[in-house]
Amino acid sequence: NESRGHISVVLLGATGDLAKKYLWQGLFQLYRDEVSNGHSFTFHGAALTAPEPGQKMMFEVLKNLACPPDEHPTRCAVLKDQFLKLSQYYQLRTAENYTVLNREIEKLLEQEELEEAGRIFYFSVPPFAYAEIAGHVNSSCRPRPGAWLRVVLEKPFGHDLESAQQLAAELRNFFKEEEMYRVDHYLGKQAVAHILPFRDQNRQFLDPIWNRHHVERVEIVLKETVDAKGRASFYEQYGVIRDVLQNHLTEVMMYLAMELPANISSTEDVLQHKLQTFKSLQGLEKTSAVIGQYQAYTSQVQEELQKAQNYFSMTPTFAGVLIHMDSLRWEGVPFILTSGKALDERVGYIRVLFKNRAYCTQSEALRDAERSQCKAKQIIFYIGHGELNSPAVLVSRNLFRPVMPEGSWREVTDRPQLHLFGQPLSDYYVYSPVKERDAYAMLISSIYHARKDFFITTENLLASWEFWTPLLDSISHQAPRLYPGGRENQHLLDFEMLGQELSFTLAEPAEFLHTSKQ
Ligand code: BG6
Repeated sequence: NESRGHISVVLLGATGDLAKKYLWQGLFQLYRDEVSNGHSFTFHGAALTAPEPGQKMMFEVLKNLACPPDEHPTRCAVLKDQFLKLSQYYQLRTAENYTVLNREIEKLLEQEELEEAGRIFYFSVPPFAYAEIAGHVNSSCRPRPGAWLRVVLEKPFGHDLESAQQLAAELRNFFKEEEMYRVDHYLGKQAVAHILPFRDQNRQFLDPIWNRHHVERVEIVLKETVDAKGRASFYEQYGVIRDVLQNHLTEVMMYLAMELPANISSTEDVLQHKLQTFKSLQGLEKTSAVIGQYQAYTSQVQEELQKAQNYFSMTPTFAGVLIHMDSLRWEGVPFILTSGKALDERVGYIRVLFKNRAYCTQSEALRDAERSQCKAKQIIFYIGHGELNSPAVLVSRNLFRPVMPEGSWREVTDRPQLHLFGQPLSDYYVYSPVKERDAYAMLISSIYHARKDFFITTENLLASWEFWTPLLDSISHQAPRLYPGGRENQHLLDFEMLGQELSFTLAEPAEFLHTSKQ
């Protein structure tokens, strides 16, 4: 293979949780996928820990890396061995430490007579550390002229519009927009990453119906069973809206609602169209949201943050928010974003429900053919967990048979006896990924391929905060409704939402009961 240059990957926070769970695995996958394409790599794990214990901790993780399921075990062992040899730990604490790291990279390039392709700095560190690290990277570790720099940042990206603007301004002192990759790991989830390709490949079916005349509502749901235990210092400041609605669920909503560019492989067009959609969001009122808090939350906070017994937390751990858009396409269509901790099940999905009620209520004596018309028509992007326990795309059989990319999604025909969203699985065309892939592995590969459309630009980030901040301000002194948490008494969390217009029970998550206004 002709040499395509050397890439140095620096993982800051190399011994942290995220790195242990996902990032090293993603980097190993990147190495496996791309080393045969002519690039050479080195991996520099970095943290504040002193060299010896740091190196030990990092190699504990590396030794336990899993082989990709499609890799032959013998070849995998060889690749892993190579990967370990190319990896090294650095303590990065002082300005001098960064200069040393840079010197090491330069030395290697010279010794091996390598041309430099670029450098990736993955900031898997808390945002308060961003500015200082950014300063060091910018002043001491930029690549040679002609080579690229990609800096990867993890949320939270601010707490509200003002703090997000501040953080963005700080980073702009050191990096150009095209150098920054802000991660929202939901964009790397297979079902989410497939929304735009699905809309593109099924234009012939969707063009006439992807609009307010045909869509009754859109539900974007992330239910979790875990609570906030052990994370109180973070969670108490953020709460569910900042933690997942402002970012993950909003991004997913954009993929559904945005106008489809003629060419979805054009990064710039995708980003522009997405940004445009933020402009059509109607402002949120206090009454647009239902907020809740699981009962044990306050005592967990009291304990972890050493608060007094009479301290009562106002942080929501559950939220359901109703969003409307001012656009020709979506006017009047409710987009409902829901997420919560300590709920009865773990599941994530996006459900687009089409209208067919008028037809169904009119004909009392239905013939069989008509009866099938009457069944709900829906498209579901199933993010994962829940009953299906894998990512999937489901399309009601009475809607259309979708076009799916052959190599990467396969039709599931051996359907278990499941009911999903009020219907047996056999009522849907069901597709699941040929290979299940972790979101971080996908995003790391997208960083390497410079696919910025899978990341959050500064404009996108600020537009999202601009949308959410007024609601967050208006509910900051509102006590959330308490709910028991776990599987017990879930019926107590039967919120009536928005003046009878919509209500839903979390005991039956899939069933948002819809009652019309009159
Ligand atoms: C993170 C949030 O961004 O997303 C967590 O901080 C949440 O609170 C998590 O649990 C959900 O992600 P996933 O991939 O587990 O669905």
